[in-house]
Amino acid sequence: MKLIFKSIVFLFLLVFSSGKMWSQSTTVVLKDNWSFSKEVKEDAFAVDFDASKWEKVSVPHDWAIYGPFDKKWDIQTGIIEQNGEKEATEKTGRTGALPHIGTGWYRNTFAIQEFKKGKKALLIFEGAMSEPQVYLNGKKVGQWGYGYSYFFIDISKDIIEGAKNTLAVKLTNEPFSSRWYPGAGLYRKVSIVVKEEESFAQWGTFITTPDIKANNAVVDIKAEFHGSNVSMVTQIKDANNKVIATQKSTETKEGKFHQIVEVAKPHLWSPETPYLYTAVTKLYAADGTLKDEQNIKFGIRFIKYEPKTGFSLNGKVTKFKGVCLHHDLGPLGAAVNKAALRRQLTILKDMGCNAIRSSHNMPSFEQLELADEMGFMFLAESFDEWAKPKVENGYNRFFKEYAEKDIVNLVRATRNHPCIVMWSSGNEVPDQWGAEGVKRAKWLQDIFHREDPTRPVTVGMDQVKATMESGFGALLDIPGLNYRVHLYEEAYKTFPQGFILGSETASTVSSRGIYKFPVVQKKNKQYPDFQSSSYDLEACSWSNVPDEDFVLQDDKPWVIGEFVWTGFDYLGEPTPYDEKWPSRSSYFGISDLAGLPKDRFYLYRSRWNKEDKTLHILPHWNWKGREGEITPVFVYTNYDSAELFINGKSMGVQKKNNATPQNRYRLMWNDVKYEPGTVKVVAFDSNGKIAAKNEVKTAGDPYKIVLNADRKTIKANGEDISFVTVSVVDKNGIPCPLADNELQFKVTGSATYRAACNGDATSLEVFHQDHMKLFSGKLVVLVKAIETAGTIQLEVTGQGLQKGKINLKSERQ
Ligand code: GAL
Repeated sequence: MKLIFKSIVFLFLLVFSSGKMWSQSTTVVLKDNWSFSKEVKEDAFAVDFDASKWEKVSVPHDWAIYGPFDKKWDIQTGIIEQNGEKEATEKTGRTGALPHIGTGWYRNTFAIQEFKKGKKALLIFEGAMSEPQVYLNGKKVGQWGYGYSYFFIDISKDIIEGAKNTLAVKLTNEPFSSRWYPGAGLYRKVSIVVKEEESFAQWGTFITTPDIKANNAVVDIKAEFHGSNVSMVTQIKDANNKVIATQKSTETKEGKFHQIVEVAKPHLWSPETPYLYTAVTKLYAADGTLKDEQNIKFGIRFIKYEPKTGFSLNGKVTKFKGVCLHHDLGPLGAAVNKAALRRQLTILKDMGCNAIRSSHNMPSFEQLELADEMGFMFLAESFDEWAKPKVENGYNRFFKEYAEKDIVNLVRATRNHPCIVMWSSGNEVPDQWGAEGVKRAKWLQDIFHREDPTRPVTVGMDQVKATMESGFGALLDIPGLNYRVHLYEEAYKTFPQGFILGSETASTVSSRGIYKFPVVQKKNKQYPDFQSSSYDLEACSWSNVPDEDFVLQDDKPWVIGEFVWTGFDYLGEPTPYDEKWPSRSSYFGISDLAGLPKDRFYLYRSRWNKEDKTLHILPHWNWKGREGEITPVFVYTNYDSAELFINGKSMGVQKKNNATPQNRYRLMWNDVKYEPGTVKVVAFDSNGKIAAKNEVKTAGDPYKIVLNADRKTIKANGEDISFVTVSVVDKNGIPCPLADNELQFKVTGSATYRAACNGDATSLEVFHQDHMKLFSGKLVVLVKAIETAGTIQLEVTGQGLQKGKINLKSERQ
């Protein structure tokens, strides 16, 4: 059908090219000059309030991450119903044991030269934890509820022209408001956009690609705007910034411009080829003056969800090899940082991961930008609760008033990201029970559909039986099962969609570099040191080990993929040690809180990464005192078979087989007796030829500190970070897996020491101090650029150890 729109494709001559005539919109990011206090001062919004003694901070900022860790911050007695608990117990560390609860005030004074009377000014928050109350020049101008929501306030009438303005933001975090560490404060960007009165509506442009053929793709652009008698010109640029199509529209439909632009020989966006186009949209007044301009990145791709075959991207059946991620960035807390996010995605890419679920809330804009650029599909989630509570002061308090507004902002602000292939309206919401919940599920899904008819909606369901009976699961676009591997088959038959998503899988627990004996599969296993075993056989009562998911993913074509809980450890939820102080962060991560891979990383890599080979041996081989005792050796590899040697003696060939899920995905030598020396594995290809080798050796005493940076050159922008992995080796350069030396860090030159993290879930060392103990022989130091370019040195020292030194540098962008 021909769409009713009037627009003419033509080569638009930039007749209004004299810079002065252009009055474009300006974005001012309020990054510096913030003052912060946790004192309760009810008049802190007043213009003449004296904040000179407040702490000077820059935003993004997380007031709680500096600690100290203390059980008193989040001690609570109660039942975690989702975990199947029946009796109330005392819990600590559930929200990270960091001081996020309470009130915090931020103040900033700024002048924006671009603002003149008659213009529009919008104050944009990309997240504010939580319940922000916003004051400008002494007057309350807005507020919000949920700490993860993006929102903006029109401050055109309240901003003062040509002089200083005083912005004050009050944030309140109630106790019992989260199931994990939420962070605290202005943890995402705050900015002001100044525009002409005649301008594009904020988050009001929607770009879709409804019709894609090899030679031609249709790009559909709908743009809302303010003003009359205006025209819109769009230029589509390819990834090299070359203009490949231009269109002008003078007529509108239902208050929107609607353009259909054709792109010849489109490059399709996919995780393997994350090709991005830019739509430069310009709004002109009748006299030809440029009024507004937007640069919107988008991708050309098509998605389909179909019975039996499941999900396809650009016509190719694709399984989600995904991970769930909480928003905290370990030692940086919730304060968003692009370098830290990029590093996470780089690590995940190497694992072969192709998708992220932002559990259980709105992702940061930075994370979506990176997912677009680096090639990750995205399941953007909204809520962990609806009207019924999981925690007393959770989202249930906001649901009625805010749910629709929160979804509208989520969708409008992010819908042009090609990475987003699915929305989620909730995670394990207690509203899965009861008829009201069914109505709510429908209501929320309809809002998503209204705002974005191009993407389906899921809910991560744990009450699968109840949702089968009530119709809750049947009405969803995508039935998402959290765990419940035993119910997949039944759910597939009961639900009408014809496919099932593993919206949350595994929840296996392990601590990097820690191995426990005897090696047995166990649920809720606890040890006196509050660590979990890296033989990857331990899970929770409701969860399972990775191999059980792999079986479903591989054998059932109607299972469209999985999102593993979780890609990285996160602050809070220290299951299985919820009752054990000082556990304060999770054990679920495939990589630890510092981003260092646990053994499980290689299990997923051996399955997911089809480009590179994996041949990983566990455990380490320093077992003084276990000589002669059974010390099983596991190998995670993409090869089907391998031979193991201990000090040259063959332990036999193992071949993957179907005896158990573990036998199918791991090579295991369960009877190996420990003797110090060398563990060597030789892997065979399908013809029985030697294809790869690897070995692990017993290390001697710690001798020398070794440093390895993820990036040696960073940007001199005051935000970029180099992540330096610090390890200790013996005289022969063999890594010491048990080293727990206390190390000191010193950064000189054009950077500052920012934090360190060793991935130990029980450590009470705060991240920003310049010393920390190694955990299982490793830790990571974060070196942060200042705004002056130059050379950077990091020196790491430890008693009795040869010191480690690394030279880095920062460059102007
Ligand atoms: C799920 C829940 C997650 C996390 C996980 C731990 O039920 O959705 O947020 O709590 O369990 O296994």
